[in-house]
Amino acid sequence: MTINKALILAGGRGTRLRPLTHTIPKQVIPVANQPILHYVLEQLHCVGIKEIGIVVSPDNREQIKHYIERNHWNLNLEYIEQKTPQGLAHAVIVSREFLGEDSFLMYLGDNLSGGRLEGILNTFESAKADATLMLKEVDNPQQFGIAEIGTGGEIKRLIEKPTNPTSNLAIIGTYCFSSRIHQAASRIAPSKRGELEITDAIQYLLENGGIVNSERLDSWWFDCGTKDDLLEANNVILSQFATQHIRGSISEDSEVEGLVDVGKGTVITNSEIVGPVKIGENCVITNSFIGPATSIGSKCKINDSRIIRTIIMDDGIIDSVAQIENSVIGKNCSIFSSRKSVDKKQFMIGDDAEMLL
Ligand code: TTP
Repeated sequence: MTINKALILAGGRGTRLRPLTHTIPKQVIPVANQPILHYVLEQLHCVGIKEIGIVVSPDNREQIKHYIERNHWNLNLEYIEQKTPQGLAHAVIVSREFLGEDSFLMYLGDNLSGGRLEGILNTFESAKADATLMLKEVDNPQQFGIAEIGTGGEIKRLIEKPTNPTSNLAIIGTYCFSSRIHQAASRIAPSKRGELEITDAIQYLLENGGIVNSERLDSWWFDCGTKDDLLEANNVILSQFATQHIRGSISEDSEVEGLVDVGKGTVITNSEIVGPVKIGENCVITNSFIGPATSIGSKCKINDSRIIRTIIMDDGIIDSVAQIENSVIGKNCSIFSSRKSVDKKQFMIGDDAEMLL
């Protein structure tokens, strides 16, 4: 029952990340200057899974395909179109032909995790389970699907967003399934929000003699569904760099401190950079402060500004803005300030925006 197949779910609407997701699929939004999908594929690569189905929407199919093909991932990849996002169990139903009778690992394409996949694969295989769920202790179980487990990690009960939680173990976006999930997915009805929920399909397995167990994640995990999740994931991934890595040029009147990664061709003049920070290639940074937890894409120009805890994508121009913080700024955006102001600004803006403050 060794697992050789994976299903990445990269359909969905991404409504909570609008306006960004009007032009960039959530799964290819850069975190530490790499698309979220990059980290997902890397995880699968580490456990040798090469046969991958990726559920996409009609709107994001081409952009996701473009990213994967441009980066030459050596994978046997199939794009599976889900016409409308009718839920995670619906995504399994539309992937029926690709999955066949094989067991598979399912991974939400907007999730980032510091854990590895060996544990969940071993737990699934050694118990000959029908479903193994990755669980993570959380502080706010009221906001998650929660699992009650027995001493051996077996799942006893699943509860969606409990008002009075009896467990703090949240079900996160990594699962292993046997082919019994197909029957379960075909038997459930849409939930109150109109989706075929994967937790209902797992509940069906539990009630019909399926073996359902769990694996505990001891590392960090983010569901990159909102701006704050993206910024925190960016901070955590930037903090994992081992050393400073400067390939660009830094003038003598600049200071660089901590985990800072600067790409080729980038020129930094009269500025202070305090890590963790990643700056892409061919940027020009002058008279500015780039603070912790910030990623700046390639070909950006930043002048006379302070930027803290922010993601700026490629081709951005920021000029004379006193302080930008907690912001996500799409590709090819320009933000200028014409008046002297010390106000801190926060932005969530999609591609090609132009702002004069
Ligand atoms: P969600 O974050 O639950 O949904 P979403 O991406 O549509 O975002 P929002 O709630 O802000 O509108 O989805 C988790 C992952 O699963 C994400 O990568 C998209 C994917 N997905 C599908 O592939 N098909 C679906 O039917 C749904 C609901 C999600």
